[in-house]
Amino acid sequence: MFCQGVLKGIALDLMQSSGIERHNRKISGTVDYADTYGSDIVVITAGLPRKPGMSRDDLLRTNSAIVTQAAKQAIAHSPEALLIVVTNPLDPMTYLAWQASGLPPERVMGMAGILDSARFQTFIAMELGISPADVRAMVLGSHGDLMVPLPRYSTVNGIPITKLLPSEAIERLTERTRNGGAEIVELLKTGGAYYAPASSTYLMVESILLNQPRLLPVAAYLQGQYGLHDLYIGVPVKLGCGGVEQIFELELTLAEHAELQKSANAVRESLDRALALQ
Ligand code: LAC
Repeated sequence: MFCQGVLKGIALDLMQSSGIERHNRKISGTVDYADTYGSDIVVITAGLPRKPGMSRDDLLRTNSAIVTQAAKQAIAHSPEALLIVVTNPLDPMTYLAWQASGLPPERVMGMAGILDSARFQTFIAMELGISPADVRAMVLGSHGDLMVPLPRYSTVNGIPITKLLPSEAIERLTERTRNGGAEIVELLKTGGAYYAPASSTYLMVESILLNQPRLLPVAAYLQGQYGLHDLYIGVPVKLGCGGVEQIFELELTLAEHAELQKSANAVRESLDRALALQ
């Protein structure tokens, strides 16, 4: 855990860029949950990051306790807040935070689908040598090795990538997307990715606070959608001021559905382990 001085220092450093970044917001660092009183949105990133060779599930035991505590304490001071979980393993941690918070399920969600889709988007743009601005990518399922990139629903200005890239290239890009986080961990040696996860979280906060609302993949609570029950997992949602305002059920092929089911089974397994540890 960071000490008070480090948090205050980071906050001051960020504040010192306010003139350059042209904003007039107050940024403060604290270790006291009471200072977060009345928050509209709480983002939980608390937990240990992965080390090289570690899977997100290796973090299960340690991070369960951290996330549960963080959710309880944050919501005690901000009972009206929406909760965004970023801590890994993402899908089970979101479920635990939801349980600990006592909030309705649509007010609790996990950040991962946007990040995974952003990685897929980047790799598609790099492969085609075009601007990522023209690429839209969709990745469903768990935030883990069994995530489900959907090439049929990934497009370049409306053209499905299946019409632009050979299947060998698509397979290679989906594989790199699945390992997107691990590739960074291997390079950094200590800690994981920061910038793309931060940008992805920012997108969610913006969509909620400005009530845009956007259609984005997030880990949402499923109650029968995609044939899945009582589980948080990545699906496309309408994200607005009410949180997850609608879950969109895409038509999936048998193979895509089987991949999603496999992904959900893995989430269920680590969730059951996390619940048993409590
Ligand atoms: C990653 C972490 C944020 O995928 O899960 O980089």
